Amino acid sequence: MELKSIKELLSSDKLLQEICVKGWIRTFRSNRFIALNDGSTIHNIQCVVDYENFPEDTLRQLNTGAAVSIVGTLVESQGKGQAVEIQVKEIEILGGANPEEFPIQPKKHSLEFLREKAHLRIRTNTFGAIMRVRSALSFAVHNYFRANGFNYVHTPIITGSDAEGAGEMFRVTTLDAKNPPLNDQNEVDYKEDFFGKETNLTVSGQLEGEAYAMALGKIYTFGPTFRAENSNTSRHLAEFWMIEPEVAFLDLDGNMDLAEDFIKNVLGYVLEHCEDDLKFLEARLIEEEKSKPQAQRSEMKLLEKLRFVTENNFKRVSYTEAIDILKNSKPNKKKKFNYIIEQWGADLQSEHERYLVEKHFKAPVILFDYPADIKAFYMRQNEDGKTVRAMDILFPGIGEIVGGSQREERYEVLQEKVKAMGIDEKELWWYMELRKFGSATHSGFGLGFERLVLFTTGMSNIRDVIPFPRTPQNAEF
Ligand code: 4AD
Ligand code: MG
Repeated sequence: MELKSIKELLSSDKLLQEICVKGWIRTFRSNRFIALNDGSTIHNIQCVVDYENFPEDTLRQLNTGAAVSIVGTLVESQGKGQAVEIQVKEIEILGGANPEEFPIQPKKHSLEFLREKAHLRIRTNTFGAIMRVRSALSFAVHNYFRANGFNYVHTPIITGSDAEGAGEMFRVTTLDAKNPPLNDQNEVDYKEDFFGKETNLTVSGQLEGEAYAMALGKIYTFGPTFRAENSNTSRHLAEFWMIEPEVAFLDLDGNMDLAEDFIKNVLGYVLEHCEDDLKFLEARLIEEEKSKPQAQRSEMKLLEKLRFVTENNFKRVSYTEAIDILKNSKPNKKKKFNYIIEQWGADLQSEHERYLVEKHFKAPVILFDYPADIKAFYMRQNEDGKTVRAMDILFPGIGEIVGGSQREERYEVLQEKVKAMGIDEKELWWYMELRKFGSATHSGFGLGFERLVLFTTGMSNIRDVIPFPRTPQNAEF
């Protein structure tokens, strides 16, 4: 018998056909109604059991969380809410779930509790919806670049360079766990090398991506990146996925156009293909926000917010203009910002970013031409000698979602910059060579994939939008 997905069955008009479904029981009520989910959709299918026809032992095992195979007839539903249901003929228990032990019972669990159960939380509606949306978003990313002539490049995970120059890297060692080398005190002597060379987990694929852009023209990477920074916030992970396009012959304006078009396109894709999941997440958010004071609730519903971003231009403002706006602003009736920007050159704090996006412009903002001193070594110096061709995209409720720039393509200028920042030029020899042989204007950006998933799903903690979050407390899975 043909195995059908619940998604297929719910939109099927072939009534009275005999079908087989396999899935996990969400609830079993009145000894009669199984709500079954197989992960193909947010919706369950109702399976109606005539309990007189089944042995007591089978009925006893129809617990929340159990995996079952059901054979039955697809019929018009008598109940409200769905068109079809299954009249059950055969039930096979594939794997039971003892209700005394299975933690995901049909009641409201806190997100904190579910985070401790990352291997089982996907069996809830909320996490099922988030992870389907995440999957669709990543598909949309590849779709967009493929359709626009980009090549997908797999940049290395283990690398000798620090792309951001921020020193926030995880070191790779070649420790032999069975026979660890010991020091004089009989402690494990960590060899801090990778076959004789100092290496780290990558913080960004950008530098290698630049090499490929300078040959293939338009490339992108999409892979895991690692940061040994303090990740105890709702926006930071130690391991996250980054999307990094890099394009030859593209300047900063073109880079901003690309980033804006890209984000609008992938959000448009999920609006079109994930409506049921997004509607569920929207309802979840409305419910969650009921406990907040009115002023802290979102002004727009989730789908409205996503449509707004796809339909309106992002505001483009230079860092210098943004500082003026902030200096002349009153964030609250009386209060100033906690951290007042007195001087041009200071980095924006998240309260400033939020003010610009949520209060002043009420739209996504692209900030560009930042002071050179607060940005990475590879950014193109502007003629004013003070600023670089950097751009950050700030999103409501999220803050920075994209960081990018036009790259310094002039050999001598880059050489001086590297020296001034105390970076060993020898470590970047291959990167410098790209400026010696066929150098040209080029630009790119990095989008933190989890921050995009956060925005799309309306969740508020980054640990809830990645399958197995890596944070200082959490690495057991
Ligand atoms: O601004 P960042 O550090 O830029 C780069 O890494 C550049 N090399 C990108 C490029 O130009 N190709 O990081 C880019 C984005 C940030 O805007 C943010 O969305 C995300 O990556 N990000 C993080 N996301 C989750 N957890 C963290 N610890 C993150 N750090 C950065
Ligand atoms: Mg950044």
